[in-house]
Amino acid sequence: MSPMPDAPKNDSGTVSHRLVEVSNGQALPGAAEYAAYYADPAGRQSAMRTLFNQAASQYDPVNLLFSLGSGGWYRRTRLRRSGLQRGDLVVDVAVGTGLLAREAIRLCGDVKAVIGVDVSEAMLAIAKAKLGIAVIQGTAEALPLASGIADFVTMGYALRHMADMRAALQEALRVLRPGGRIVLLEISAPGQRLHRLLMGAYIGGVLPVLSLLMTRDRRSRMLMRYHWRSIASFMPPAAVMLELENAGFSGVRCDSEFDLFRHYTASKMEN
Ligand SMILES: C[S@@+](CC[C@H](N)C(=O)[O-])C[C@H]1O[C@@H](n2cnc3c(N)ncnc32)[C@H](O)[C@@H]1O
Repeated sequence: MSPMPDAPKNDSGTVSHRLVEVSNGQALPGAAEYAAYYADPAGRQSAMRTLFNQAASQYDPVNLLFSLGSGGWYRRTRLRRSGLQRGDLVVDVAVGTGLLAREAIRLCGDVKAVIGVDVSEAMLAIAKAKLGIAVIQGTAEALPLASGIADFVTMGYALRHMADMRAALQEALRVLRPGGRIVLLEISAPGQRLHRLLMGAYIGGVLPVLSLLMTRDRRSRMLMRYHWRSIASFMPPAAVMLELENAGFSGVRCDSEFDLFRHYTASKMEN
C-alpha cells in the first residue's frame, strides 16, 4: 500500500470533512491500487472521487505542464469546431476544475450557459470558485438533470475514468435535446508500439517527476502516474465510436492529433 497522502484540503485551505470520512482509519489507495477498482463500477466511481478529491488542488498546475500551456486554446478550438456558439446551453460532464467549461463560457458568452457535473466535490468547489457556474455533484452514469435540456453535452478527458461508459453515453443522449451534440475530448494511447513506448516513458515517467519538482506535492506525481495508466488501458478510438453508435448517437466522428489526442463528436437524432 502506498503511504498515506497529506490530508486533503479544499480550496479555502480547510481539511475536507467528507474526505476525512472517506479515508476514515485506513490509508487511502495510491495510483497503483486504482487498477484494482476497475472491475467494480461502484468502487470505481468512489475511487475516482477519492483520487480527484485528493489531487484537486494540483490538477491545474499538472495540466499546465502536460499541455505546455496550450490546454485552453486546444479545448476552445475543438468546441468551436464542434459548432458551439452563443445561445447554446452546455452540460459539461466531469467538469473538474472547469478547464473545458471556461472555454465553453467564452464561446457561449454567458456564465449561465454552462452547468458542471462531477463526482468530486473538491474539483467542483474549484470550478465554482473560478468560474461562478452552476455545479452539481453527481455521476455521469446517472446525471441529476432533466431530459432534453441541453444543446451540447461536453466531456473533457473523463471518458476513460467512467465506471460504466455505456450508461454515461446514454445519459448524455437523454439530457440532449433532439439535434443536440455531444463533444468528447480524450487521450488514447498511440496505435504504433514505438510511439506508445515513447509516450509511456514521457507521460508516465518524466512528467510525474517534473510535476513533483514543480509543485513539491506528491499528489501531483500520483495524478500524473494515474493518467498514463488510465490512457494506456483505455479502449482504441474505433471502439469508442462504436460505443457512441450503440448508445444511439448518429453522425459519429473522431478527429485525432499526433495519434494521441482524440476529438469525438456525434448528434442526437431529430424527432
Ligand atoms: C481529468 S479530469 C477532467 C476535468 C475537465 N473536464 C478538463 O477538461 O480538464 C476528470 C474528471 O472526471 C471526474 N469523474 C470521474 N469519474 C466520474 C463519474 N463517473 N462521473 C462524474 N465525474 C467523474 C473526476 O472527478 C474529474 O474531475
